[in-house]
Amino acid sequence: MVDEVVAALRPEQAPEGSVFIDATVGGGGHSAHLLDAADGVRVIGIDQDPDAVSAAKERLGCHSERATVARGNFRRMGSVPEVRQAAGRGGRGGVVSRQGVQGILMDLGVSSYQMDNSDRGFSFRAGTRLGMGMGMGGGAGGEPAADLLNNSSEKELGRVFRQGEERRWRALARVVVMRRCTRPFKTSDDLTAAMARVFGRTPSVKEQARVFQAVRIAVNDELAALAEGLDEALDLLAARGRLVVLSYHSLEDRIVKRRFREWSASCVCPPNVLVCQCRGRPLGRTLTRKPLRPSAREVSANRRARSARLRAWEKAV
Ligand SMILES: C[S@@+](CC[C@H](N)C(=O)[O-])C[C@H]1O[C@@H](n2cnc3c(N)ncnc32)[C@H](O)[C@@H]1O
Repeated sequence: MVDEVVAALRPEQAPEGSVFIDATVGGGGHSAHLLDAADGVRVIGIDQDPDAVSAAKERLGCHSERATVARGNFRRMGSVPEVRQAAGRGGRGGVVSRQGVQGILMDLGVSSYQMDNSDRGFSFRAGTRLGMGMGMGGGAGGEPAADLLNNSSEKELGRVFRQGEERRWRALARVVVMRRCTRPFKTSDDLTAAMARVFGRTPSVKEQARVFQAVRIAVNDELAALAEGLDEALDLLAARGRLVVLSYHSLEDRIVKRRFREWSASCVCPPNVLVCQCRGRPLGRTLTRKPLRPSAREVSANRRARSARLRAWEKAV
């Protein structure tokens, strides 16, 4: 949804020297389009994955004067040194400058590179090791998904599967704990076999996708990171600055939708404040009443885009 992202962030209307943050730079595709759309803007790309940082640096190399790529987690994007500098923040806890950031993009989830590279262990293709750590490069080793399945309590595993909307979360947690005593979890086959035991048949691709995604979300603490990242973004945006979020499943989309709704409400005081202190002024407005979806043409060219939902929000003056 590159065109929709660029249209929502409208870099061509931003003042010369404006800064945009691509908080999930991945391979640098969206950043490159933002830079191409307006000669006068700068982009700071952030990713927690060192492989993505290297790929984006290479892709955006030709824009070297206007593009900076840094490793970091968007849940603390305001602490990334390049962002602090661009946003005019002084020392720790400093104040955002009057200029702020003109636009922020969060294209959530996993990249095609991460999914397709078996070293990274994200896929449920047979024989894939249970990796899934977004913050680790391919060569870094470590098998956080296997560690989670082998070491978490049954209650914790139940919470992981339930959060991922697996209906049989309780039984699956029990089977994982039973199986790992004799055969520790190492590859995707182990998790698929545990699912087959619970379902009484080979799980469908959709079922596998849901359970593997639940594990990935837990390994990377994705939902908490998203909630914190949205608040960081709100703090960094300049007046009339825009935040665009692309999400790929309902758990993420729900968080984005609720945050945008809260920020756009006329009273934004926390519930424990008895007398309104914000004087009923919304923090901004939601630009997308309904999330935008990819066109049929885009979905046929890129199957992974089919679940994308784009929401956009603009900060008030
Ligand atoms: C869907 S891909 C982004 C693709 C990118 N828009 C492009 O054009 O190539 C998502 C990226 O976000 C990164 N990511 C996910 N959660 C993150 C987080 N909390 N902080 C920083 N990066 C994150 C992943 O490592 C991955 O590279």
